Amino acid sequence: MTYRANSIAARDIASVIHPQTNLQQHRTAGPEMTQRGEGVCIYDDDGREYIDATSGLWCASLGFSTKRLAKVAYDQMCELSYYHLYRHRSHEPAIELAERLLAIAPVPMSKVLFQCSGSEANDVAIKLVWYYHNAIGKPEKRKIISRHMGYHGSTVASASLSGKPDMHADFNLPLDGFLHTDWPHFYRHSEPGESEIEYSSRLAQRLESLIISEGPETIAAFFAEPVMGAAGGVVPPDGYFEKIQSVLRKYDILFVVDEVVCGYGRTGRMWGSETYNIQPDILTTAKALSAAALPISAVMVNDKIYQAMLDESDKLGSFAHGFTYAGHPVSAAVAVETLKIYEEINVVKLAQENGEILSQALMPAKDHPLVGDVSQVGLLAGIELVCDKATRKLFGPEVGIGARVVAASQRHGLIHRGMGDRVAFAPPFIINEAEIQSIGKRFIQALDDVWAEIRSH
Ligand SMILES: Cc1ncc(COP(=O)(O)O)c(C=O)c1O
Repeated sequence: MTYRANSIAARDIASVIHPQTNLQQHRTAGPEMTQRGEGVCIYDDDGREYIDATSGLWCASLGFSTKRLAKVAYDQMCELSYYHLYRHRSHEPAIELAERLLAIAPVPMSKVLFQCSGSEANDVAIKLVWYYHNAIGKPEKRKIISRHMGYHGSTVASASLSGKPDMHADFNLPLDGFLHTDWPHFYRHSEPGESEIEYSSRLAQRLESLIISEGPETIAAFFAEPVMGAAGGVVPPDGYFEKIQSVLRKYDILFVVDEVVCGYGRTGRMWGSETYNIQPDILTTAKALSAAALPISAVMVNDKIYQAMLDESDKLGSFAHGFTYAGHPVSAAVAVETLKIYEEINVVKLAQENGEILSQALMPAKDHPLVGDVSQVGLLAGIELVCDKATRKLFGPEVGIGARVVAASQRHGLIHRGMGDRVAFAPPFIINEAEIQSIGKRFIQALDDVWAEIRSH
């Protein structure tokens, strides 16, 4: 397609590279414009309304037009629009945010280190894991284990952590020393007759075998998301984290929990770590930390890690790490206000209540011929699309089933994420009952459309 000179599409194609996009297709498909947001909806440049049932990228927890946060950002910009936290400098918004995070941490945490994105938070967590092991005289503990299909970000190190083959291909990733173990996808990868607990035990044994074959003295840390967001909303089977944690403890391996998606009530408790009884040594958080209104992320470390950092920085003369914008006062002030709002609206209870409504709204999808698995915890749901419900057979990649359902939903005014054969829902916490019912109805309409298309071929 050729676009009218100077049209928005032509200007976009001439100037912008879009992440996670087929760049060649984009030259003909052109951009989908997002003009404005209100509540849980976004509007395109023709004024069409879409409910965004995945909060943008799992992040816009308070919707897409957050005026209260805008006011805070404006006031903070007038007061102090920028200052850093290097070399003993500090400011009130960073301190208050750190205090608030420590107060709600799922386990006792000692200190908070700020960055600007989830990728950076995980990248920094890797550096801290290495720094810690060097500090305690175990420099050979360097290898990191994460899970196939996990997603931890796009920087060189966080993409290495991620277990998504497309994010490694031709980027020369993963880096050496990044190992991947099984992802806990019971519906797809359990054996016939295997219970959830048995499946969890098997995965823990396989993790242990990997650790032993690599040499436990070389394994520094294990990284995991409580619920795997970008893998398609994959909820862990019973007993999974208990069994994994007992292997990690046995071999003195740190557990870094990536709460970038799961934090602030998403799984029905304040943290996914609470939902699954995880005891992180290090916790990373971003996205809903500021309701996605401004970029900010944080790494919380326990006292064991902090004490080692103290000694190491003294030995070396400085904790030689930092980002210009880390702990930016405007982002920090907005995050503080976000946490205040969460307290006021009782975000955990709200997510639980809205989660129940979402579960009812998605109930009819369970019977749909295209739907194999519906898994949900709190206000986060993942659905696996299959071509045969009885055998759980998947469509071939040429069908592009996830993308087709996403496109059909969009024609019905519904946006949700699609990843391969799975689609996921994680709407803003502030969504109301009628909007959740609309998600269910529009999704079924989309499934019906795709089912009709497939049958007609
Ligand atoms: C679990 C998880 N960790 C980390 C990231 C990376 O965050 P960011 O895109 O802010 O770098 C994401 C992004 O989707 C994520 O889902």
